Amino acid sequence: MAVKQLIEAPLVVVTNREPYVDEHSESGIRTIQKAGGVVSALDPLLQETGGQWIAWGSGSADIEVSPGGKREVPPEHPCYTLHRIVLNPEEVQGYYAKYSNQGLWPLSHMLIERAQFSRRAWQVYRNVNQKFAKRVNSVSPEGAWIFSHDYQLSLLPALVRKSRPDVAIVHFWHIPWPPLTIFRLCPQHQEILRGLLGADVLGFQSQLDVDNFLNAIERMLKLPVDHNTGIITVGDRKVRVKAFPISIDFEAIQKLLNMPRIQRWVRGIRRHIDYRNQILGISVDRADYTKGLLARLDAIKEFYSLYPQYLKRVTYVQVVVPSRTEVAEYRRFYERVSQKTQELNQLFGTSSWSPIITLPHSIDRPRLMGLFRAADFAVVSSLVDGMNLVAKEFVAAQIDKQGVLLLSETTGAANELENEAFPINPLDPEGFANTLHAALTVSVEERAARIAAMRMHLKQNTIYDWMEDIFLTLKMAAQSYV
Ligand code: UDP
Ligand code: G6P
Repeated sequence: MAVKQLIEAPLVVVTNREPYVDEHSESGIRTIQKAGGVVSALDPLLQETGGQWIAWGSGSADIEVSPGGKREVPPEHPCYTLHRIVLNPEEVQGYYAKYSNQGLWPLSHMLIERAQFSRRAWQVYRNVNQKFAKRVNSVSPEGAWIFSHDYQLSLLPALVRKSRPDVAIVHFWHIPWPPLTIFRLCPQHQEILRGLLGADVLGFQSQLDVDNFLNAIERMLKLPVDHNTGIITVGDRKVRVKAFPISIDFEAIQKLLNMPRIQRWVRGIRRHIDYRNQILGISVDRADYTKGLLARLDAIKEFYSLYPQYLKRVTYVQVVVPSRTEVAEYRRFYERVSQKTQELNQLFGTSSWSPIITLPHSIDRPRLMGLFRAADFAVVSSLVDGMNLVAKEFVAAQIDKQGVLLLSETTGAANELENEAFPINPLDPEGFANTLHAALTVSVEERAARIAAMRMHLKQNTIYDWMEDIFLTLKMAAQSYV
């Protein structure tokens, strides 16, 4: 892995979610590896380089199997140390459920009416960030590279910087950064900006996010910003702000698809679909209101109403993974999606055919990639999304090049794929329905050409390129600012 050569200092990764979770189960304690873009990229890297990973220990058996808050992972052949931060129920509520997921998450996604901030939750958020920082300070070797992540840990860079001037810090913000007028609504906007400025390098998904962030710094903190280089001057320090669009492990997906059991599974699905002369659509999301699940169901309703020729022909599988169930709004949202799905199935379904099949649970990566390969079309309909890795994974899994991707224009992924994907506006149900019809009627040659172009792009811009770019920028920052 070329990225490994770039890492010249001990690596310390800090995320809210942990890469391995220990859960009590009927058959004893089970270690589950969390699937998802960042974890599946950083875990192999740390397995090669060794190092430390600090995260909230959220599993029911986490404490039991981590003496002193530490666990060597992966359990079957330990390569690096996972440090688990223990949070009590009040901390989980204040830091995770409330401030992060009822405040910063909807605000950053520009869904301002959903955003709720409370000073009590803010205190807890700050204390938990301090708890994380304390652990970073105590476990980081001299001169370490700290790679911290996302909106749950916005105060961490400055907290670490204060007591550990020897370390280099890069913080990556995975979600959108909203325009100034929206970010201003966060009552603690000053503190959050100052917290992030403790990093040497700040990464965002797109240039638009970078521009929004730089504007916020200029207007709210009145600090000098060079918009051409993305450099902010903070006293005698410089902070480099840059877009690093996150991506996928293209080759790893090809390997999963080559597994005999997955090949058999894909063949089984295709046989079933082709025998019935069906068209298979798929979407995969956490049950999160930012993903546009309800708007998508409106569009599906339009689609069957405007184009009844697809009744009994297009079957749409939606994987809806329950998410953030600590937050009442998420639980209510999940219920509304289930209810609306049922209504549509009643409206259009017959005794032998349902237009929508819901898989209400997460699916392991090999089978998920198999589903992507087998599908004729995928729909990504986020209202706003920092990137959306599902869109990229679908394309990477389309090795037979027969599928089409409908992709919301308001995702980070659209910046890279919108010329070959079929762009949709998630809030325009008729337009969405027309685009789905158009996508299903393009020639086989055009489908293949579109998928091939997107696959080429993703093959050349993988998660390893993302990491390389980030670490190279950090290395240059660490050298030039010392
Ligand atoms: N994912 C998975 N199994 C599932 C659902 C999702 O492994 O059942 C993975 C999916 O493959 C992707 C990630 O979870 O890598 C979701 O990332 P994305 O950027 O699409 O959305 P997020 O959930 O991070 O907002
Ligand atoms: C998004 C966020 C991540 C988060 C993930 C899953 O991708 O950017 O920080 O980990 O959603 O959400 P959860 O709250 O379950 O960790």
